[in-house]
Amino acid sequence: MKVQAHPITGTIGAEVTGVDLAAPISAGLGADLRALLSRHLVLVFRDQHIDLAAQKCLTSVFGTPMHLPYIEPMEEDPEVIRVLKEADDRSGVFGGDWHSDLSFIPEPPAGSVLNAIDLPPYGGDTLFANQAAAWEALSPGLRDLLDGRDAVHVGKPHGVKWAPAPESRSRGAVRMVRGDPEADRERFHPAVLTDPETGRKSLYLNPVYVTRLDGMTEAESRPLLDKLKEHATRPEVSMRLRWTAGTVAVWDNYATLHFAVNDYAGFRREMWRTTFRTRAFAAWRATA
Ligand SMILES: [Fe+2]
Repeated sequence: MKVQAHPITGTIGAEVTGVDLAAPISAGLGADLRALLSRHLVLVFRDQHIDLAAQKCLTSVFGTPMHLPYIEPMEEDPEVIRVLKEADDRSGVFGGDWHSDLSFIPEPPAGSVLNAIDLPPYGGDTLFANQAAAWEALSPGLRDLLDGRDAVHVGKPHGVKWAPAPESRSRGAVRMVRGDPEADRERFHPAVLTDPETGRKSLYLNPVYVTRLDGMTEAESRPLLDKLKEHATRPEVSMRLRWTAGTVAVWDNYATLHFAVNDYAGFRREMWRTTFRTRAFAAWRATA
């Protein structure tokens, strides 16, 4: 089989054909998949129906599978999260605003693999936005303001100071750790990351965890962060992934934002998520 990538939009995402993820992944294929992820930022594999072992093998192609803080894993495997929303769950959804996963920890994950297990008949799509394209489309003035400046990230949903109201919390089977004062700690990451291999820069801001820009107050930062969110999630830099049975997707967590659409009330949705880290975050932080 010949591996081929079919772009989903003009800026982000590719459907990859010619790959059977249930079969062993050779070193050559692994290198090809890493190159495709670096280029397209979101890879989608259809009709795979893989088990947990195969999902973990795929995850290992991109980095080291990791146990996530602040989210309770699947009982069977501490490196897997069951992203589950039951049909009778009327609360919010896990990941229901634009974000980069766990950007408030010292070394945020490099990416994740999501495996569709049980899907609603419609809805439950995931949106992704290319933050390299967002950076490249910014005005020179805003680029000057952001390049070399840190943003302050706080684990708001998990801490005390910014804890969400109980009625707005998502529940279901995704059990999140809350009320941990450690999550209130301000963590400084560059507002712009640089891919150490390609030199491509990406905006690294998200409305779920970023409270302000370094050197500015929250009140001063808010209008600018709101404007940047709007800019960074425009249709021109975004894609919408429609899940189908057996779909597996991989995304780059440094150069994209994502958003889980909560529009399938009355239906069950179950995905298995694995997340990987690499040693590269320090290099991504080191701006040129
Ligand atoms: Fe997420």
